[in-house]
Formats: sequence, structure tokens, C-alpha cells
Amino acid sequence: MCLGSDRCTELPECGRLKNWDAGILSTKSDLMEEMKLKSAIEAWRERVLAFDREMEEIRGEGQEHGQRRPVFASKPQDPYRTDDPALNVFCEFVNEGTEVLDVGGGAGRFALPLATRAKRVTVIDPSEESLDLLSTRVAEFGFTNVTSVNERWEEAEVPSADVTLCSWAIHHVVEAAPFIKKMEERAMDRVVILEMMETPGSQMAPFFERVHGTRLTALPGVRQLLNLLWAMDIFPDVTMLSPEIPVLGPDLSSTLERLRRMLAVEEGTDADERLRAVADELLEETSEGLTVRGTNLRRQAIVTWKPTQSD
Ligand SMILES: C[S@@+](CC[C@H](N)C(=O)[O-])C[C@H]1O[C@@H](n2cnc3c(N)ncnc32)[C@H](O)[C@@H]1O
Repeated sequence: MCLGSDRCTELPECGRLKNWDAGILSTKSDLMEEMKLKSAIEAWRERVLAFDREMEEIRGEGQEHGQRRPVFASKPQDPYRTDDPALNVFCEFVNEGTEVLDVGGGAGRFALPLATRAKRVTVIDPSEESLDLLSTRVAEFGFTNVTSVNERWEEAEVPSADVTLCSWAIHHVVEAAPFIKKMEERAMDRVVILEMMETPGSQMAPFFERVHGTRLTALPGVRQLLNLLWAMDIFPDVTMLSPEIPVLGPDLSSTLERLRRMLAVEEGTDADERLRAVADELLEETSEGLTVRGTNLRRQAIVTWKPTQSD
């Protein structure tokens, strides 16, 4: 209760605090901030670990974290395209003098088009297969300003660049806070993160449940990312892209193939029979391809900020 005395410690907003009391309060609020940070870090970590555990249970034991995730080989896209809403926002942060670190850049969905506008793009990714695809595409287009580092971002020793970019990769990372901190430390001008509200795993969840009989935890998305950033005292700008229908595949056979790969289901097994039955029930045709009946639209956000050392 605030007694209105100059020793009030009940209400932080009470204007009659002595320095001594304000000191205690600031310690208390520091403690609160620390607790918020710890809980955001733990909530994130628990989601990623639970997802990995659940996936490893169906794929087999003895794998390191995330090792058995299917390779993400994005379809080759025109590096000179101008109709990609995410890319168009990224381009606002890039000019012919800009050096970019594309963290988890994979096969170059964004690295290649950014290389047409930037001085240099370096992709850092632990997936050898993705980087092989990247070098094939780099050679195909004759780019000379794209390089790659075959390592996890956490261990990669790379010099700072103007922009550090991370698209659709952070939701795989168990310890996201140091990962983000490093992105900030290596960015001289801007950090840019593209994430989904709901990762593709959430579309897979109803199939997972019916095929394997257990629930699948959703990987962290934009909500958890913002919670974590705010708890880290980072207050980014957020741009929401237009929502899209989340398409699983152009036709039934490629969609089933994708679902089998994601759910570790062998064709012709009992699990495959269950998958086919649930696909009959849940898949719905749209003008873009097949989607899951009743699923949410895919919403993505570009989360960006200037690192503190650049001010
Ligand atoms: C879904 S793909 C996204 C690829 C690309 N950024 C895009 O948007 O098309 C995720 C990528 O993150 C990479 N990745 C996962 N963990 C990583 C880590 N700790 N450090 C760097 N990259 C990582 C994966 O190997 C994969 O290529």
C-alpha cells in the first residue's frame, strides 16, 4: 500500500521515491526483466527440443539435434524476379555497396537475387547438400559475388557485414538468443529476419497425429520471436506480408511424397495407408495446389532493426 511517504516502495510509478528505494526497485525490475528473458529463452528452447524429440522418435534414435531434418531444397527461382514481396522488402536494405551474410541461406532462394543488387553475399549453412545446390545455381547464373561457409552460424567465423539476414532458419535453432546476438554483433547496419507465424510443421500436425498417434509440438514462430527479442531489449520494426494459401504440393502424388518425407513414412506400409486415408479427408484443392482443409493462411513477418553498435 502506498502511504504517500517518501519511503514508498509499493508502487514503481510513485513519484516520491528516495534514491535508496529507487535503487531497490530498479534491482527488482532488473530481476523481472531477467525472469522474462529466461522464460522467453526457455519457452523457445522447449518448443524446438520437443519438436526434434518427436520427430526423432519417428525417424530413429541416435541422431544429433536436427540432423535428420529433410533437406530444404527450394525450387530454383529467377534471381531477377521482381514480384517476390519478401525479397522486395530485403532490397530496401541493399545497394551495390552492401555486403550481406545470409544465415541459413540454404540453396540461395534469397542469396541469388540479393547478389544481383549487392556487392557480396555470403551464405552460412550447415547443409552440404543445400550449399552444393547453391554452387550449381551460382555457376549457372555466372555470379562471382556469392560465397558460402559450410557451418552452423553458432560456430562460423565470418567477418562482419552490412546486413545479416536470416530467413526461415531461426525456428530450427535451440539456443536462439546467442544466435540473434551474433547476428546483431556481425551486422554493421541492419539485422533482417523473415519468419512465419506458423511453421510448416503446424500444417503437418494433423497428419502426424493420425499417422503416428501422437501430437507434434509446433516450432516457434513470429510470436515467440518477438517475445524473445523484446525480452532481449530489442524492439524491431515488423512488416507483415500479405497472407498466402499454404500449399503442400501441386498435385496429390507430389503432396503425398512430401508428406511421406516429412513424416518418415515408407510407401506401401500401414503408416502409408493411414496417411492416404487422412489425405483423402484433409487435402483440399485450391487454384494454387493442395492445401489442408481448415488450415490458417500462411502469414509471414519481416522483423528488422538497426544493431545498437551502428547508432
Ligand atoms: C527452411 S531452410 C531456409 C533456407 C533459406 N533461408 C530460404 O529462406 O529459402 C532452413 C535452413 O537453415 C539452415 N540451418 C539450420 N540450422 C542452422 C544453423 N544453426 N546455422 C545456420 N543455418 C542453419 C538449414 O540447413 C537450412 O538450409
